[in-house]
Amino acid sequence: MGENGTVWLPEGASALASEWDGLFYFVYYVSLIIFVGVVSAMIYFAFVYRRRQAEERPAFVKDNKMIEMASVVIPTILVLIVFTWGFKTYVRMNVAPPDAYQIQVRAQQWSWTFEYPNGAQSVGEVHVPVDRPVQMMMSSTDVIHSFFVPAFRIKMDVLPNRYTSVWFHATKQGEFQIFCTEYCGTAHSNMLGKVIVQSEADFQKWLQESQATDLTPVERGEQLYVQQTCNACHSTDGSPGVGPTFKGLFGSERALEGGGTVVADENYIRESILNPTAKVAQGFSPIMPASFGSLPAEDIDALVAYIKSLSNE
Ligand code: CUA
Repeated sequence: MGENGTVWLPEGASALASEWDGLFYFVYYVSLIIFVGVVSAMIYFAFVYRRRQAEERPAFVKDNKMIEMASVVIPTILVLIVFTWGFKTYVRMNVAPPDAYQIQVRAQQWSWTFEYPNGAQSVGEVHVPVDRPVQMMMSSTDVIHSFFVPAFRIKMDVLPNRYTSVWFHATKQGEFQIFCTEYCGTAHSNMLGKVIVQSEADFQKWLQESQATDLTPVERGEQLYVQQTCNACHSTDGSPGVGPTFKGLFGSERALEGGGTVVADENYIRESILNPTAKVAQGFSPIMPASFGSLPAEDIDALVAYIKSLSNE
């Protein structure tokens, strides 16, 4: 229980928390009212229809259309309210606003590393601005972990072979606990962290001071693009080459060899680097060297960031 938590729920510190908590309490109080109603009726009937002499018995009730109708219609309405409310919040929880601030998260046995768009990095604690949507793009360098921040009511598995993401909109400044909630080895229970929610000004100040490397992920990706000789086959200005151009690639819909299409998101680009034959763009042959499969996670993230920066949006 957090300092401002209740008996039922820990402290809530995100926009989503108030939505989920509202739904939780709706279900809770409706259940409570129905429970009290059913138990009261049970006790009442047990008393009224207890075993008695024939002449003392109350009149036999055959049916009651009103009660029958109500017992079908009212629960149906309640279930529809819970479904609509839950579904809307679920969709909102899963789709990050396009303007969300993006932070890269790398999980490993047994720590969390966070990387910001300006190249700053932090381990074990992530700094975020208050009152602004923040999206975490997460991947693991070893086994499956899970990113859980109870105060924000978010939890998402972090996988070794693809990106997953969560987003939140922190509404309070302060420190909030991060847990790993997927058993990931001996020190799983020590795989903790903190979200530090700061004012926009404090956050920007921290970000500037923490910029240890002089390269941002996009700049590092641009460097790798040359070092790893991606430039031999992929142009960045739209001109044709052996492989597809990177210009406008991110976010576009790609026709595939053998039919079907795919939207070029982070996971598609990651897969195409690591396993070029998985989904081949129409009109190209899968002749990319397999050696990229051994690039470290940081490099993959940087290349994805660079290709993302060349999108048309
Ligand atoms: Cu990482 Cu449990």
